[in-house]
Amino acid sequence: MKLALILLLLQGFIMAEQDRTPNYPIQSLLLNRWSPRSMTGEAMTDDELLPLFEAARWSPSSFNSQPWRILYAKRDTPEWDLFYDLLIDFNKEWCKNASALVVMVSRDTFEKNNNPSVTHSYDTGAAWMSIALEGSSRGYVVHGMSGFDYDKARKSLNIPEGYTVEAMAAIGKRAPKEDLPEEMQKMEAPSTRKPLSEIAIPGSFPAEN
Ligand SMILES: Cc1cc2nc3c(=O)[nH]c(=O)nc-3n(C[C@H](O)[C@H](O)[C@H](O)COP(=O)(O)O)c2cc1C
Repeated sequence: MKLALILLLLQGFIMAEQDRTPNYPIQSLLLNRWSPRSMTGEAMTDDELLPLFEAARWSPSSFNSQPWRILYAKRDTPEWDLFYDLLIDFNKEWCKNASALVVMVSRDTFEKNNNPSVTHSYDTGAAWMSIALEGSSRGYVVHGMSGFDYDKARKSLNIPEGYTVEAMAAIGKRAPKEDLPEEMQKMEAPSTRKPLSEIAIPGSFPAEN
């Protein structure tokens, strides 16, 4: 993975951690994951793409129920249009250069007894983050999306009742930000975060101001 990072630096891509100041030192992997939009429009082989989904496979889940399902389409395949057509126009604009589009789906009940699972979405969020971290550590763009038609996704992709459509993601090979339309170029930078003291609360929920 170090090679992927060195190659990115040689191509002139900054590492996000240079722009991000954590309140405490943490692993570079976490600071370097961010959501660029500029992608080359090249295809990815299965050997490049499937390790990202393998990372999801090893995510933790309640009772090890593994409620996530990862529906995906690679560019230049018959399924691509089905996934691409779900996106809102803003996302279509930059996702036209993605190598793969993903729809994350979760099973609402436990397979072993059909009891409702309280944490199926939470578990599937963990799986998505594993995809993002594995992809980012390999130098790929992995960009989450809620900007798509959820009902259409269910119909177009035959997602049955009992499964929740969670979110989409675009995966691809990084390109310089200058390849994006001008408005999007301004957004192509690692973002910051709320202070730790606002999100990590010792004790009960604080009173609203
Ligand atoms: C579930 C989810 C949905 C998102 N939806 C979109 C989207 O529809 N379009 C988009 O351009 N970015 C989308 N994003 C990207 C977020 O805006 C981005 O993750 C956030 O601003 C934090 O920035 P970072 O990922 O670069 O750290 C989404 C991210 C997540 C996790």
